[in-house]
Amino acid sequence: RKQVSRKAKQAHYPAPYHLIDLWQRHADNPERMLREEAISVAKLATTPTAKNLVRVYFLQEQLKSQGKQLAFDPGHVHVIGGGIMGGDIASWCAIQGYSVTVQDQEPARLAQTFKRAQASFKKKYKRDRRAIIAAGDRLMPDHNGYGVSRADIIIEAIFEDVDVKRALYQEIEPRMKAGAILATNTSSIRLEDLSSSLNKPGRLVGLHFFNPVAKMPLVEIIRGNETDDAVVQQALAFGRNISKLPLEVKSSPGFLVNRILMPYLLEAVTMVGEGVPPEVVDKAATDFGMPMGPIELADTVGLDICKSVAEILSAALDMPMPDNLDDMAAANKLGKKSGEGFYTYKNGRPQKNKAARYADTGKVQDRLVMRLLNEATACLREGIVASDDLIDAGVIFGTGFAPFRGGPIHYVRETGKQKLGDRMNQLRLEYGDRFALDTAWAGL
Ligand code: NAI
Repeated sequence: RKQVSRKAKQAHYPAPYHLIDLWQRHADNPERMLREEAISVAKLATTPTAKNLVRVYFLQEQLKSQGKQLAFDPGHVHVIGGGIMGGDIASWCAIQGYSVTVQDQEPARLAQTFKRAQASFKKKYKRDRRAIIAAGDRLMPDHNGYGVSRADIIIEAIFEDVDVKRALYQEIEPRMKAGAILATNTSSIRLEDLSSSLNKPGRLVGLHFFNPVAKMPLVEIIRGNETDDAVVQQALAFGRNISKLPLEVKSSPGFLVNRILMPYLLEAVTMVGEGVPPEVVDKAATDFGMPMGPIELADTVGLDICKSVAEILSAALDMPMPDNLDDMAAANKLGKKSGEGFYTYKNGRPQKNKAARYADTGKVQDRLVMRLLNEATACLREGIVASDDLIDAGVIFGTGFAPFRGGPIHYVRETGKQKLGDRMNQLRLEYGDRFALDTAWAGL
């Protein structure tokens, strides 16, 4: 029970606990065990958890079926930027069987990439040394960028800086194959600001992976205003080929996942600024069913990165920025990577105060969840993805949003938009217009 409880809370996922009960009571009587199991399964199959997990399965199938319109199987993949993201994208593509070159301006970064890649090959293939060697052979360091002219797809994951990215595109485009596509992993720059540096702007598409690449199943495929339709289809097909769940998303600040996550994260930071202990905020989120609390997530992503994404989103979407995020970044408290953020870190683990308490934990949870749900509704209204189901799919597979709740839009409908809307209105009276219901709420 103790081991299971580390993976799944009984209130959210009752099935494994029922199984343990059956063993405990009837392991000595197989016939009776089978009879009792039939009854138990029948009961479990009708719970909201089971129904929502079936829903999540079909959402996953829906994402898997994207990218079937056009076959696209590149002979060679070239990745530019061997940092956290580029390095992991390159080794992931090599594991998926592609021939990959990875380019970085700093040879030392390439050395780190290859060290990390070896570790991920070993994790994947265990003791199969041949498979480890074969994957290693498929991944080639390429400081000078010779792979550019061989590649059918180039994935750019260099610094998040418009001018640096534009300069790189101008330098590589003349060497690219005629039909090759250029994919950027940018998380906040408008695609249109990048594609205008190209002679063929239609070949640029966003391929937004999530960190850590090997664990996160979703990849957002960003269609810029100028992206050719065939290129979007090719990118979707590529996402499928590398065993990710591709989701086509409109080019808009924060795309889908970061946009929905950000208000939730900022509300968490605001509460800590008000004096709510970070432990309480995080527990409110994990009690709801999130895989990790928002404060620990912000520390893990890095408070400098959080701040820059938040600034872009708050400028574009009128999202208020809490002062304490600024203060932390200015004091070089960047989270896990600097050893201190909202938590302090020992051996990469946050040091949490188990005794932390707060009077109204229900309100803490409501403030977090309501902002996330409201932003999901805004994305639905703006048509950021093609359907409400795809919003749910994106949020579940991109953020780990409580799968047993079936996704944010589904959750609003199941819980009742009136009930949740009333709660939002109360919060608005207390905390102001960031809790104003989105106009699309009434139509849910
Ligand atoms: P990073 O700083 O770890 O890596 C960037 C790498 O690019 C560095 O190794 C640098 O030497 C190299 N580089 C810079 N300019 C170059 C050039 N002109 N030619 C060749 N190499 C060059 O950055 P990180 O975190 O991997 O981010 C890369 C991109 O991925 C950014 O656009 C970022 O917004 C995006 N992204 C980052 C996520 C994250 O969690 N870190 C998540 C999703 C997207």
